[in-house]
Amino acid sequence: MKTILITGGAGFIGSHVVRLFVNKYPDYRIINLDALTYAGNLANLKDIEDRPNYEFVKADICDFDTVYRLMQDKNVDGIVHLAAESHVDRSIKDPFTFARTNVLGTLSLLQAARLYWESLPERYEGKRFYHISTDEVYGALELTCPEGVEPPFRTAASSGEHHLAYGTEFFLETTKYNPHSPYSASKASSDHFVRAFHDTYGMPTIVTNCSNNYGPYQFPEKLIPLFINNIRHRKALPVYGKGENVRDWLYVEDHARAIDLIFHKGTIADTYNIGGFNEWKNIDLIRVLINTVDRLLGRKEGEDLNLITFVTDRAGHDLRYAIDSRKLQRELGWEPSLQFEEGIEKTVRWYLEHQDWLDQVTSGDYQHYYERMYIDRG
Ligand code: NAD
Ligand code: TYD
Repeated sequence: MKTILITGGAGFIGSHVVRLFVNKYPDYRIINLDALTYAGNLANLKDIEDRPNYEFVKADICDFDTVYRLMQDKNVDGIVHLAAESHVDRSIKDPFTFARTNVLGTLSLLQAARLYWESLPERYEGKRFYHISTDEVYGALELTCPEGVEPPFRTAASSGEHHLAYGTEFFLETTKYNPHSPYSASKASSDHFVRAFHDTYGMPTIVTNCSNNYGPYQFPEKLIPLFINNIRHRKALPVYGKGENVRDWLYVEDHARAIDLIFHKGTIADTYNIGGFNEWKNIDLIRVLINTVDRLLGRKEGEDLNLITFVTDRAGHDLRYAIDSRKLQRELGWEPSLQFEEGIEKTVRWYLEHQDWLDQVTSGDYQHYYERMYIDRG
């Protein structure tokens, strides 16, 4: 039996990864270690919580002693590390928490894994430390188009298929790190520590950098679930700046499938970008969300466009993210399974059908946090 420790498994992406591993690998023991911060919610895993190959441990990755003891007690063979503070706006208000969890927490996990694995006769044989990171570490791209062409333009950057792009440059695995927000700076730092543990101690590490995820169970402080919920309740939609920023969106289950593939087949010490060549300007995406929510609620499509409220821009707001994931397609054969239209329809439907989940996570402290932030922004 293989024992896999998944950190941050009660969060958005982590819960999809835990579900996939628990369902797909009945012979593995899957341990979900999560501190259950505001973003962690065990209700995300209700459907698999009683499975015999699943265990939950409430712990903080920064608590080295607990993590080290857990590695020993459970004989952990592999780690899929997702636990992190993940919201850029929070990192602007409270950068220290991001340095603590994302940098020191990752270091604590690396050190615990190193000391435990180095104490075994087989040392690093059959072991793996897989660190989940973000494309935001690469910084921001320009909205540059071929001469005489208005963005978005069609380009053939993905295995022969054409897709819309807002610029001629994409993030590659070799793109120089250039983070701008405290969130991306903390993730960049953690990526460097992971690679340093390979180079210094020979730990079998892998790092992946993925684009923006969307889908069920995302905490409604992030654009897509926040706006779906607000449209439903006819609350203002705070669009930062002019809504001109571009993000590259991937359905969360496609990310989880990529993680499974790379965990099992990826090359040690390598880096893979994960993305679906799916760039959207925020304002265009928001219009799609409004039309979809209106239609599914039986309202007139576009009826709620007047909820769009332009507010002060996010400080240091990265203009464009766009991932080139052809290496992952070429080497491991991964492709996104969903078209964006299907993914968005599925996602909007899920949030509309799970109002109880939204109500639970938006109650209490989070609601106050959001209100404060929104009022601050005028
Ligand atoms: P999330 O905020 O939804 O979940 C984070 C989880 O980590 C929560 O369950 C939380 O309780 C847990 N956690 C936080 N601090 C902890 C600590 N000190 N100890 C133990 N657990 C702790 O985040 P997410 O969106 O699911 O992102 C997961 C990972 O994927 C992060 O590392 C993030 O940087 C990365 N990522 C996210 C995206 C995205 O679009 N959401 C894209 C690329 C990469
Ligand atoms: P977000 O979901 O926070 O992800 P990230 O900042 O990691 O890309 O934001 C996605 C985009 O939407 C980003 O350009 C900021 C913008 N945005 C708004 O315009 N209003 C909002 O209330 C939020 C949360 C985000």
